[in-house]
Amino acid sequence: MSRNAAAAYSATGSAWEHGPARIYNRLAEIVVAALPVSIDGASTLDLGAGTGAATRALLAAGAGRVVAVDAATGMLSHNAGRRPPAVAGDALALPFAAGAFDVVVAAFSLNHLSDPAAGLREAARVTRPGGAVAASAYADDDDHPVKQAVVAALTARGWTPEPWYRALQVDAAPKLATVAAAQAAAETAGLEADVEYRQVPFPDLDATALIAWRLGLAQHAPFYEGLTTDADRAALVEDAAARLGNSWPPLERSIIILRALRY
Ligand SMILES: C[S@@+](CC[C@H](N)C(=O)[O-])C[C@H]1O[C@@H](n2cnc3c(N)ncnc32)[C@H](O)[C@@H]1O
Repeated sequence: MSRNAAAAYSATGSAWEHGPARIYNRLAEIVVAALPVSIDGASTLDLGAGTGAATRALLAAGAGRVVAVDAATGMLSHNAGRRPPAVAGDALALPFAAGAFDVVVAAFSLNHLSDPAAGLREAARVTRPGGAVAASAYADDDDHPVKQAVVAALTARGWTPEPWYRALQVDAAPKLATVAAAQAAAETAGLEADVEYRQVPFPDLDATALIAWRLGLAQHAPFYEGLTTDADRAALVEDAAARLGNSWPPLERSIIILRALRY
């Protein structure tokens, strides 16, 4: 992960919990439920853990032990006192021995890699034979009008996408954004994966929650939080709400879920 991307995520921890977490917590539960092995009592790794969505899902599903790893220490330090052990580390060179875990879950993290097959191979390396790996990514049709509304409100105030985010969109995300692409990455990594496209509805989210989701993401949060006054931030939210208008569909996220047994 580039230093700029890690810094942006590190500056995002609490903003994430006030917006995106509502969505990512539920998605992590779905990814954990898709694992092809029992996780009862299992030793597990939350890879690209962020603020711990998959950690919580793994513990709730009966994991015996969770270790979190992420390149952005600011995400790991969020609520650190109430989370299992966390380690700073890169998905491409995990600081763990071969076969150290029964199960590895990478929720929306390997889609940051320009070589996701290398990330999958590394996830498989630290998984013991007989264990399993699950990873998720955004599908290429994952969209909602709130994305454009928030970007327009940010852009009107001088925000521009940073190079790390452009690289993520152009060079990384597409490589896991379809069933075929994810299947190809798994094959390159030497994994026999089952890959699924899934739509996950969020009918309970109102405009305020949708805007908080977008403003809490790493590509936006440092700029939004860096605005001079609370009034500036409130005006941006109001502007985004006006641009979104009143006739928008309920959010439905399109995701790719990849799961594989480690032979
Ligand atoms: C979209 S967030 C998802 C966080 C969490 N898994 C969740 O579902 O809420 C992506 C996370 O992956 C981490 N990440 C991205 N690239 C990484 C890499 N190469 N190594 C380790 N962590 C990485 C980011 O720092 C960030 O915390």
